[in-house]
Amino acid sequence: MSGLEDTNRMTYGNYLRLDDMLSLQEGPIGYSPKPCNDELHFIIVHQAFELWFKLVLSELKEVHELMDKEHIEEGSMPKIVHHLKRVSSVFNLMSQQWKVMETLTPQDFLSFRDRLGTSSGFESWQLRQIETILGLEQQQREAGMDPLKHMERLAKEGKISKDVLVDFQARINSPSLCDLLDNWLSRTPINASLSTDLDDEKVVVQYVENHLQAMSNHSESVIEHILSIGHGDESSIRPRMEKSISGARSFLIQDGKVNRSRAGLLFIESYRDLPLLSWPRTLIDSFVELEQALLLFRNSHARMVERMIGRRMGTGGSSGVDYLDATLKYRIFVDLWTVRTILVRRDLLPEVANPSYYEFNSQ
Ligand code: HEM
Repeated sequence: MSGLEDTNRMTYGNYLRLDDMLSLQEGPIGYSPKPCNDELHFIIVHQAFELWFKLVLSELKEVHELMDKEHIEEGSMPKIVHHLKRVSSVFNLMSQQWKVMETLTPQDFLSFRDRLGTSSGFESWQLRQIETILGLEQQQREAGMDPLKHMERLAKEGKISKDVLVDFQARINSPSLCDLLDNWLSRTPINASLSTDLDDEKVVVQYVENHLQAMSNHSESVIEHILSIGHGDESSIRPRMEKSISGARSFLIQDGKVNRSRAGLLFIESYRDLPLLSWPRTLIDSFVELEQALLLFRNSHARMVERMIGRRMGTGGSSGVDYLDATLKYRIFVDLWTVRTILVRRDLLPEVANPSYYEFNSQ
């Protein structure tokens, strides 16, 4: 090899395609004048976010593949949790990244804001894909916000590739992670009964009724305690307690039929210390953590925007901060949040039937 250069040698810049990547911060083709330092900063921060979105999407697609099964293999659980945790870490990191954006002053931003025209983060199809794969329902979105319509328009205008639109349509028409989680929860063994067992329905109804009874007993002790310390009168406290129990009943039983996914979720959350439930509860925790990270990310974006443009309208035509604040109400994994309201103190829980079923089996 002596004297000859190895032109095939892999280099850092080669591997990362740095030349290509670092040539993409000049604004759209023919953009004139070239971005000033503040605008360059604005572009780089956006691109960094979009790169993270790309990673998040790839992680979520992996999770989707692992969960889109009739029977999720035990061995897949650690992998699923691992991918979800990476997504939460990225969102937590992105929440901090708005700080970099905030080094731009409102006046500096105004100096080039008009150049953005009507372009806006609104059009970030990667974030829309993330929301869709997770399972954000159209009816939950703020009025007028329809990502599919928006993307169809962009595709018609030639502003996004056909592939992006086709991919998005396919995602909308396939089960979301929220649906897949729901299916998986519906197969939870409840009091050692499997959803395929002949008398499963009877066992699950009994389980739900016992839980509601435990809630009711708990309420009585709370009422007794509040009255004994003179912190209110029965006529105002009792209806509130009864309302929460009837809320729990309608969460668990709809049209006279027990919702097995919710009952399974309640079972896992209530008896989360049982060895066999350790991966299921970790999986649920990972989804909760992820949604919380997404909300904090949305919130810190909204606070940055408020600091930057006050109550101005957004370049995408929305009301701006008011719109962004309204998105903080979005909840994708609604049941995972709701179940927290109906949990009962450990010592008041009904005994698990056949607890040995939930021990690790070394055989
Ligand atoms: C000076 C900095 C920024 C300002 C003033 C700003 C402002 C806004 C406003 C007002 C909206 C609402 C839609 C509209 O009417 O335009 C929005 C949406 C959005 N922005 Fe930003 N933004 C900034 C930086 C960023 C960055 C760095 C990202 C990173 C990708 C980003 C991502 C998004 C996304 C994804 C949405 C859609 C949110 C949703 O609909 O849930 N923004 N932004």
